[in-house]
Amino acid sequence: MRVELTVNGERQQADVWEGESLLFALRERLGLPGSKNACEQGECGSCSVLLDGTLVCACLVLAAQADGHEVVTVEGLARDGQLHRVQEAFTETGAVQCGFCTPGLIVATADLLERTPSPSEDEIREALSGNLCRCTGYAKIFDAVRLAAER
Ligand code: FES
Ligand code: FES
Repeated sequence: MRVELTVNGERQQADVWEGESLLFALRERLGLPGSKNACEQGECGSCSVLLDGTLVCACLVLAAQADGHEVVTVEGLARDGQLHRVQEAFTETGAVQCGFCTPGLIVATADLLERTPSPSEDEIREALSGNLCRCTGYAKIFDAVRLAAER
């Protein structure tokens, strides 16, 4: 089946299988490998994207469900060659090690700061509780969120 959706502000079309995930379609059909596939079960958050402004795990959404809708991936956060403030904060604080969790954390953080510009520690932890990182121990990730919020 053919789906039409807006991805990072651009109208896109893709021929997908009925059971295919939005994550697979983004990575393999639309050439957007930023969203990562670490578990494909909704457990890790590495595939987090915005679907009509709502944070979702792209591995749990069918590509067909995104037909006619708007998706923003980590690739869509930068503007005019300028990194998003959350992307900058993650690199500046050393919050990136292997980087596999990073795109999902960045999308989730951007979503948090859009809704809550000055989040408390508890709000940061709650907002990122669906994003697992095996490398950093989270301290530098929380530093990055605070730095992005300050800006
Ligand atoms: S790959 Fe989607 S939640 Fe892990
Ligand atoms: S930096 Fe490696 S999983 Fe987070």
